[in-house]
Amino acid sequence: MDQAQQLRNIIKANNNQQRPLARVITVTSGKGGVGKSNTAINLAIQFRKMGQRVIILDADFGLANIEIMFGTVPKHNLCDLIYQGKNIKEIITWGPGEVGFISGGSGIAGLSNLSRDYLIYIIQNLAELDAIADVIIVDTGAGISDAVLEFLVASGEILLVTTPEPTSITDSYSLLKALNRHPRFSPEASTIKVIANKVFKPEDGTALFNKLNVVVQRYLKLPLEYLGAIPQDDKLSQAVMQQTPVSLANPMAKSAKSYESIAAVLMNKEIGGEVKRRGMAAFFSHIVTGKKLD
Ligand SMILES: Nc1ncnc2c1ncn2[C@@H]1O[C@H](COP(=O)(O)OP(=O)(O)O)[C@@H](O)[C@H]1O
Ligand SMILES: [Mg+2]
Repeated sequence: MDQAQQLRNIIKANNNQQRPLARVITVTSGKGGVGKSNTAINLAIQFRKMGQRVIILDADFGLANIEIMFGTVPKHNLCDLIYQGKNIKEIITWGPGEVGFISGGSGIAGLSNLSRDYLIYIIQNLAELDAIADVIIVDTGAGISDAVLEFLVASGEILLVTTPEPTSITDSYSLLKALNRHPRFSPEASTIKVIANKVFKPEDGTALFNKLNVVVQRYLKLPLEYLGAIPQDDKLSQAVMQQTPVSLANPMAKSAKSYESIAAVLMNKEIGGEVKRRGMAAFFSHIVTGKKLD
């Protein structure tokens, strides 16, 4: 049996269990500093408030954003699972608001060098996340790197954060162009949802989306969905300084309210049957084998 077949069997066995698989949502952007980590963390808090069990995977290997924004230092990271034999429960750190996170460390980069048996062991471990979480939010690093593209290709749901700055819009376009060119990307297998961050009024968000959508439809023909806008909000920057997500530090702040509505839209899509929960085994197998297995 080849490796892909073996992994396919794990995914099948995992999918056949009675419990549902986790919904994997990957947050990305064309450039840094546009609000990805805030989006990941605040949507996580909002999902949790709706009764969902949420784990954030911090896959920004350069900057450990999530732990800083949660003001919590993780004892372990993904490397400890891969190289030190820790199990999945041991590497989850519980942050404020009962949201768990896993710090990526430099973990995922080395996965492709591991032996087949070992890889299978790791993926089986990661698949246990499906029993622990309803939603897994992956916070990616900035820019168009191979690692980020791998995560996006593996992800069923991509949240693209953009701001009204012209460079942010062109960088978003470049990211989508690179994704579209990726040999394993298939538009049918993923949905791309756009969030407009740091807007001064809601119409700016719609205008920004339309601007991006016009070029994307003309040159890439990738379906994009507009999820909504998050206003420019001093309360959000203050919360960042206090190392607490704005949705907890100041739940009535306008940014927190917008995260709440966007989380509700995302939940409704799931209730309406528009979302396919793929689970963690499929997500990671895809990343490490470079093959679509589900
Ligand atoms: N809606 C917003 N209103 C005000 N400031 C914001 C907003 N979103 C992000 N910021 C600021 O931008 C900084 C970078 O946000 P962050 O979520 O860390 O971006 P990224 O993860 O994309 O690099 C934050 O520290 C915060 O000060
Ligand atoms: Mg970040």
